[in-house]
Amino acid sequence: MVATNPFMIVFRLLHIVAGVLWVGSAFLFVGFIGPAAAEVGPAAGPLLHVAVKERKVAKVITGLGITTVVAGWIIWLRDLNDFGSLSDWLGSHFGFVLTIGAVLATIAAFLGAYGVGRNVERLVDVGDAVEASGGPPTPEQQARIEHLGAEIEKHGKIDLVLLVLAVACMATARYW
Ligand code: HEM
Repeated sequence: MVATNPFMIVFRLLHIVAGVLWVGSAFLFVGFIGPAAAEVGPAAGPLLHVAVKERKVAKVITGLGITTVVAGWIIWLRDLNDFGSLSDWLGSHFGFVLTIGAVLATIAAFLGAYGVGRNVERLVDVGDAVEASGGPPTPEQQARIEHLGAEIEKHGKIDLVLLVLAVACMATARYW
């Protein structure tokens, strides 16, 4: 029998629930919503405006990533403390694989926030400016839209690969 451990119940729950929501929403956005919006073009503007500006989807996903990462590092420190030393913790298969996953997921959180979330907000700003002008985008606005779209796609794909690798590490760490 494992003794009841309120610290682990709270932090593991926070960590895993936020992580599931983070990776799931990043997958949906990068894999489907982003490409669909790019295919539809300006007609996707109003939907993206409501999702990003009013429902704050980019900020919510970033918040889920930060919650997962912070709760994860807190548990990591607790595990380190239980193992007694950094060399014992990283010398264990569990600690080593978890730490690889943790580093990958932490990089993914920064990349997601700055390379994807922030650029999605900028893209919606340009779309709003085009909409407000009532006309087609100026050549500068068009170039900016294309640049931001390419950045979002590139960083989104890298982010997803990092997240899948991180989840693979988390899911299997205790069985190596
Ligand atoms: C991609 C996002 C992440 C997801 C979906 C995720 C998911 C999970 C899951 C499902 C477990 C349970 C594994 C098991 O009990 O065998 C776990 C454990 C753990 N995760 Fe993550 N994780 C993520 C990112 C992170 C990050 C950034 C850290 C930072 C250090 C971290 C640290 C940990 C630690 C220390 C444990 C072990 C908990 C224990 O001692 O029982 N995770 N994670």
